[in-house]
Amino acid sequence: MSKNSVTITDNRNGNQVELDILDPTIGSSAIDIRKLHTKLGLFTYDPGFQATASCKSDITFIDGDKGILLYRGYPIEQLAEHSNYLETSYLLMYGHLPSKEEYHDFIGIIKKHTMVHEGIKQFFNGFQHDAHPMAIMVGVVGALSAFYHDSLDITNARHREISAHRLLSKMPTIAAYSHRRAHGLPLPYPRNDLDFIENFMYMMFSVPSREYIVDPVAVRAMRLIFILHADHEQNASTSTVRLASSSGANPFACISAGIASLWGPAHGGANEAVIHMLEEIKHPDEIPKYIERAKDKNDDYRLMGFGHRIYKNYDPRAKIIREACNDLLDAMGSNSHPLFDTARQLEKIALEDEYFLERNLYPNVDFYSGIILKALGMPLNMFTVIFAMARTAGWISQWLEMMEDKEQRIGRPRQLYTGAKVRDYVDLSKR
Ligand code: CMC
Repeated sequence: MSKNSVTITDNRNGNQVELDILDPTIGSSAIDIRKLHTKLGLFTYDPGFQATASCKSDITFIDGDKGILLYRGYPIEQLAEHSNYLETSYLLMYGHLPSKEEYHDFIGIIKKHTMVHEGIKQFFNGFQHDAHPMAIMVGVVGALSAFYHDSLDITNARHREISAHRLLSKMPTIAAYSHRRAHGLPLPYPRNDLDFIENFMYMMFSVPSREYIVDPVAVRAMRLIFILHADHEQNASTSTVRLASSSGANPFACISAGIASLWGPAHGGANEAVIHMLEEIKHPDEIPKYIERAKDKNDDYRLMGFGHRIYKNYDPRAKIIREACNDLLDAMGSNSHPLFDTARQLEKIALEDEYFLERNLYPNVDFYSGIILKALGMPLNMFTVIFAMARTAGWISQWLEMMEDKEQRIGRPRQLYTGAKVRDYVDLSKR
């Protein structure tokens, strides 16, 4: 019997199986359960994958108890302070910080792909004028596979890389267009003299009749949001991308699936939901009523932007962005918007409340990113789109990694069947 193993005994019949323990470089070990069903005829049951590692990955490490987040070994705090989004994207994709030459080449490649096929622009006319931009993103990103099939052979490493570059590069263009069409604004071409974030802001807010002036405060805040959201290991949307890709689906379709998953309010949709919640609360005096609702087991209401599946101490991204959020609100003046006062009071009250303390429900990254985006004047329905743009770096990196993983097979979870046993069909006339 190996020391690095566990033995599982089925107490109903005494049958046993020895399972290997797989060791990580850091973090929790995992039991390799692949033999479990063939040896004992048992599945494992783990709704929501609370104790299941779905893959091996070299990309991102999280220690939820200690509040640690590393991209390829680099602490998020250092990347937030010193890096930028495209350098971080390179790091996630290729596994190392780029040399000067690699960095400049990468920027050049990403800039080369910023335009979208003119045919894609026609799509934006077809959507209902008040369509949510996330709905447009799901459709248009999926549709890229109808235009860029010169690089869709997923067995070809060069094709995979080109598709990954295209996704990273075109996402801001598609995102900005999904906003502009709804407002009757023309669709500008990307400007490659601007950096990644500046260009996105230009495509969002420029008008042809006026010179566009880059707002350095907004760009700095956006840069931070992009780095902090770039990857987060096997979260719901990333797992969706991996599961969709496991069948051999093309990367544009898979990222579109990831965008759909991200949209939910328990995931990326939370940054938008935070503002809806604050608007509903309206005034700090009303906060206790909403705190009581969040605590009431008979009420589904939750405080948006609070809690996290993995972080049970604090969310390190929230710690970084909270500071930026406070700086921004202070610079704008305390009375800039009553909603921000409500946000600050809510944070204070929840952090002192026994219910939230006992369950480790701290404000998460989306609580603060929602407030920052609101303070920057970003349209509310674009908040989750910004998360999606940022997370594209993570999705494509995880997809590229998965495509080279020899152990990966089609994702096919099993189930604990709780339905009817075999029964005979009854003719309609007898029912
Ligand atoms: N407000 C009130 N109670 C909550 C909240 C909340 N936001 N979040 C969790 N709880 C309670 C929950 O009712 C449960 O209580 P009890 O143990 O008495 O039954 C306990 O805390 C554990 O909750 P859970 O639902 O088992 O936790 P989870 O890990 O399945 O869910 C979560 C994590 C993030 C989905 C959840 O905390 C939540 O819905 N938060 C609000 C939405 C949000 O802000 N999401 C953004 C997450 S960060 C961005 C990202 O990575 O996507």
